[in-house]
Amino acid sequence: MSFEEMWAALLPVGRDPEGGGYRRFVWTAPELECRAWFLDEARGRDLEVERDRNGNLFAWWYPDGVDRSAKGVLTGSHLDSVPGGGAFDGPLGVVSAFAAVDRLRERGARPDRPIGIGVFAEEEGARFGVACLGSRLLSGAIDPARARGLTDADGRSFAEVAAEHGIDPDTIGPDEELLGRIGCYVELHVEQGRALADPVGAASSIVPHGRWRFDFAGEGNHAGTTRLADRHDPMLAFAWMVLAARSAAERHGTVATVGKVDVTPGGVNAIPSHVAAWLDSRGPFEDVVRRTVAEVHEAARARAAAHGVTVELAEESYTEVVDFNLDLRDRVVKALGGVPVLPTGAGHDAGILAARVPTAMLFVRNPTGVSHAPSEYAEEDDCLAGVEALATVLNDLACG
Ligand code: GLV
Ligand code: MN
Ligand code: MN
Ligand code: MN
Repeated sequence: MSFEEMWAALLPVGRDPEGGGYRRFVWTAPELECRAWFLDEARGRDLEVERDRNGNLFAWWYPDGVDRSAKGVLTGSHLDSVPGGGAFDGPLGVVSAFAAVDRLRERGARPDRPIGIGVFAEEEGARFGVACLGSRLLSGAIDPARARGLTDADGRSFAEVAAEHGIDPDTIGPDEELLGRIGCYVELHVEQGRALADPVGAASSIVPHGRWRFDFAGEGNHAGTTRLADRHDPMLAFAWMVLAARSAAERHGTVATVGKVDVTPGGVNAIPSHVAAWLDSRGPFEDVVRRTVAEVHEAARARAAAHGVTVELAEESYTEVVDFNLDLRDRVVKALGGVPVLPTGAGHDAGILAARVPTAMLFVRNPTGVSHAPSEYAEEDDCLAGVEALATVLNDLACG
């Protein structure tokens, strides 16, 4: 199938008919359909399919006569999405990978090492809360015991859900054998801001970023009969926290977002007993991100105390700055005859794998700068330029 045909095949999967974007959470029906699509595309090309012990998928091209033990060049991305996500974040890298391999084959390229296409599980962390879970497990960036215990919105554990999909939860975790077969990883991704004016660019770094959970506990009570003076309303401390996040971000040159909140019990006529809220903060340096979170916590604590409410803070994930491998980046940029190099505020599996293997990223222009939203978009010509760039890079890295 051509790039356009693959794109058309994936487009309806997990899309809200009312225009609310994609919902492809790991190991739910739409994501499983995307995985089935991946396996079909791989088998249709006679690629060797591998599923690792952490639920990540790989399709390997072993050209005739290749030394199978040579370290391979891996590309790929992810097929899961955020709630209400766009079509490009993740799938563009996977579809482009197949299309780039097709181009190499059509042109008679003779790689002297394997080329792999990877699909990493739970990149968005939309179901179990920790982004890049599959690549973190593979590379040893998360304790397997902690991963086993992560739960989804229905209270089901990662261990339980993974087991339903053929993964032995007792064996999840770092896979040195597989890592040892990966010489380098190059992920193509739609750019997620408006930082790229050319059709294709390369990544320099990913800024420090993390997720923090705030739990506000108060006292549930009647909305009509409880006097204001008698209330312990956790919503008030939560509201303060949201405003504090914005002002701390402005002061520290970071970004801070509260995009998810759970209110218990969630009745119009009930003072909540509990509010859980998630803060996402990112910035150019670790210290400003830490200061942002500390100040939000302090503001929440002060407000909570004023209302007889408690607040607890837990760090769910934190990723240090990632500077992509300089030699690999230079080689990629050179192979492409010079493209812009830019940092990003978005997390990627490439950022996690960077701790274990040389890693680079290619970005495809995003004309509106919108991402993690239904209107995320890239021009078809730019996507095809991305495919050509990826084919060029794979050819450069895998052929001699
Ligand atoms: C993942 O896409 C993230 O950067 O949040
Ligand atoms: Mn994303
Ligand atoms: Mn992504
Ligand atoms: Mn991401």
